[in-house]
Amino acid sequence: MTRTSILETKDLVGQEVMLCGWVHNRRDHGKLIFIDLRDRSGIAQVVFVPSGADYEMASRLRAEWVVRLKGVVKARPEKMFNDEIPTGRVEIEPIELEILNRAETPPFPIDTDGYDIGEESRMSYRFVDLRRQRMANNLAVRHAAALFIRNWLSEKGFLEVETPILTKSTPEGARDFVVPSRLYPGAFYALPQSPQQYKQLLMAGGVEKYFQLARCFRDEDTRGDRQPEFTQLDMEMSFVEREDVMQLNEQLLIEMVKTIYPQKRIQEIPFPRISYKEAMEKYQTDRPDVRKDKNDLNLLAFCWVVDFPFFEKNDEGKYTFTHNPFSAPKPEFMEDLMTKKNIGDILTTQYDVVLNGWEIGGGSIRNHQSEALGKVFEIMGFEEGRIANNFGHMLTAFKNGTPPHGGIAWGFDRLVALLNNEPNIREVMAFPKTGDARDLMMSSPSELEEKQLKELHLKISK
Ligand code: AMO
Repeated sequence: MTRTSILETKDLVGQEVMLCGWVHNRRDHGKLIFIDLRDRSGIAQVVFVPSGADYEMASRLRAEWVVRLKGVVKARPEKMFNDEIPTGRVEIEPIELEILNRAETPPFPIDTDGYDIGEESRMSYRFVDLRRQRMANNLAVRHAAALFIRNWLSEKGFLEVETPILTKSTPEGARDFVVPSRLYPGAFYALPQSPQQYKQLLMAGGVEKYFQLARCFRDEDTRGDRQPEFTQLDMEMSFVEREDVMQLNEQLLIEMVKTIYPQKRIQEIPFPRISYKEAMEKYQTDRPDVRKDKNDLNLLAFCWVVDFPFFEKNDEGKYTFTHNPFSAPKPEFMEDLMTKKNIGDILTTQYDVVLNGWEIGGGSIRNHQSEALGKVFEIMGFEEGRIANNFGHMLTAFKNGTPPHGGIAWGFDRLVALLNNEPNIREVMAFPKTGDARDLMMSSPSELEEKQLKELHLKISK
């Protein structure tokens, strides 16, 4: 007999089925035992009577035990209808019960939304936490959004290309996670903060339209909208201008929302565009929340922020990039860049996309001429040795037929969290880190054995 999903039982009155799942709860009413049996699709009520099959076994069932049940789907009497759940007009009369696994008393209830349960406990028992309806729904919707994006971009001729995880530091503003090399004592790989350089090198490689649901790693302090490990929808295109990238992304966002989140309303289409200067003057932030009604859970106020300054001075009074060293200036500022004049006034092609006050993405048109990128490094005061060592491959690629190109990356976790009305990106990730960057389930980070340290040529200073 093949397994039937619990949701399907609503249309199978009179039929014999085999169901598999978890005991959601057990209620004893006089001599009757009611079991709510749950699988990913829903919950069905099973009624055991003293004279029926496996009554004694049913009396021992506890919450979260895993069972297989053969039974017959029966229509409930009308006064027993429960129209709060899709299967509420049927119930299951058992034929045979089998216990597949027992469970200790669950660490917390899972038939609630779980917001009031402490993080320590939810994260230590994440595999139990994920069984709650809200989490199951978040994962399912995240999947649907990712699938929509993949199909949509594929239809438009994009290729999803995987880029390395063992890579080299990129100067993107955050601290790197590093991986020691066994084969090269004293040398380290870095985990990518984003696939920025690789995606540009893919443009040099003639890919023309690239995207990737890419894992990114940044050793920063964790916050509600920030995790050490997160996912970007990363993309890059050749032979495009700023307008092409913005239009395409705006269209993708709109169509994704309409398909996956039809209950949501986008405040303004086309998305309003605000200059960095205006945003700072009017909202005192470069990620303004432009919602007209902040109480409306289903209102999505997207906007673009553009015309950022390319450079700003750091604490030491030296120029550094505001977003991305690989960005091109706006065309009218190219001459200033090449002659290193009016540096503080140069505007970049950078565009950020903001949703309800969260920065959900950002990108730019890049410098594809080695001379222009070289000027950026000169302005930042990088020495030649450092430029050659860190960026030689980019400069070489740009001297070998790299087309003009540009792109963007969305913070995919942030976008899904906002769309699912979640206050924190942890709620839309299966196995996030805690606020203090630990995995409590796996107990990570953890110490290495002496033998491993030795192999990696590492000594720990205590
Ligand atoms: P940026 O650094 O702006 O750009 O990152 C793009 C988007 O990723 C999201 N994001 C994060 N989400 C969760 N946790 C984090 N720690 C985190 N950091 C960033 C944000 C952000 O807008 N390579 C460039 C993109 C490009 O120029 O094409 C980049 O990574 O939503």
